[in-house]
Amino acid sequence: MWIQTEVTRQLNIKYPIIQAPMAGSTTPELVAAVSNGGGLGSIGAGYYNPEKFRTDIAKTQTLTDKPFAVNLFVPEYNEVTSTQIDRMKEILTPYYEEFNIEPDMPTIDKDDTFGQLVKIVIDTNVKICSFTFGIPDPVTVEKLKEAGVILIGCATTVEEAVLNEQAGMDMVVVQGFEAGGHRGSFAQKTLQSTIGTMALVPQAADAVAIPVIAAGGIMDGRGVYASLTLGAGAAQLGTAFLTTKESKAPEIHKEKILNSTEMDTVLTKSFSGKYARGIRNRFIDDMEHHQEDILAYPFQNQITKKIRSKVAAEGRNDLLHLWSGQGVKMSRDTEAKELLKDIVDQVNKISGNEAYHR
Ligand SMILES: Cc1cc2nc3c(=O)[nH]c(=O)nc-3n(C[C@H](O)[C@H](O)[C@H](O)COP(=O)(O)O)c2cc1C
Repeated sequence: MWIQTEVTRQLNIKYPIIQAPMAGSTTPELVAAVSNGGGLGSIGAGYYNPEKFRTDIAKTQTLTDKPFAVNLFVPEYNEVTSTQIDRMKEILTPYYEEFNIEPDMPTIDKDDTFGQLVKIVIDTNVKICSFTFGIPDPVTVEKLKEAGVILIGCATTVEEAVLNEQAGMDMVVVQGFEAGGHRGSFAQKTLQSTIGTMALVPQAADAVAIPVIAAGGIMDGRGVYASLTLGAGAAQLGTAFLTTKESKAPEIHKEKILNSTEMDTVLTKSFSGKYARGIRNRFIDDMEHHQEDILAYPFQNQITKKIRSKVAAEGRNDLLHLWSGQGVKMSRDTEAKELLKDIVDQVNKISGNEAYHR
């Protein structure tokens, strides 16, 4: 028996180690490798349409009979005017010209994609669903709970952790400032919700009765063990799994992470309209002068998408969103199974204990 926590017991996993959902970068192979290795793999389905969601779930279910999670983005209903869109188009024109492309016009999702994805979670018998960008509405929470799905929310402050608990989440990921990718902030201003993992985890653990999962800057056994010591029931690692062979992040993205330092990441809303941590590049620098004109999420995400796809296809990283946490120098070019095994071995070594209970 290895380290048992409320999280491992409830999720029925061997190790308190979760591969973070990473929309655009997870694959069934990555998710299954982590789940088969005794951790919890998570499908980042935030940008998926129903068809892609079904396909990924089905593939993952053929690759593992162990528990895995799916992750959805709680929808946001922001507004944008045509004047604002025209202004952003004008700012982005040099890039459209550089690639000879027409911009995608931002649209509002009228199909209730979120509702369709929730239905698929239930239909396909997935038993763990995590969320970011807010808390799902009470009807959705009830539907999923009735189907026996364990719900995991996301918080970037103690207050957000409490709100997740009050809304019926079974567990909550607390995402420290170091974390790569989008901030999950929803109740307070994102730039004020920038608490480091070391400070956030114990304060959240003190404030809620549900298990807390630590995220942000955790890259190896030292970080996992520290998270458990701070009161977390598990650690969720994103950047560490992003550079594994099974992740489908573009090679130029992986290479950049593998060759960056702890000083290279910044918070930016220039790619998507929502603050996210990534490695500084030309696009972030260029857009620094236009912060007032950035469209609200998800419109900025839509209007920059073609540029990002094009630049990635050309093997360039200067205009690409290079999401990464601050733990970059600990990143490794390896297989997910190997990474997980090394993390477990390192925790064993640090704890001096093969069978460690809490
Ligand atoms: C490339 C990338 C994509 C991410 N996408 C998601 C996502 O779709 N859903 C989510 O809840 N969190 C997402 N995150 C955030 C992670 O869940 C987690 O909070 C973060 O990776 C932890 O910090 P670390 O990268 O330092 O390990 C993403 C992170 C990265 C690096």
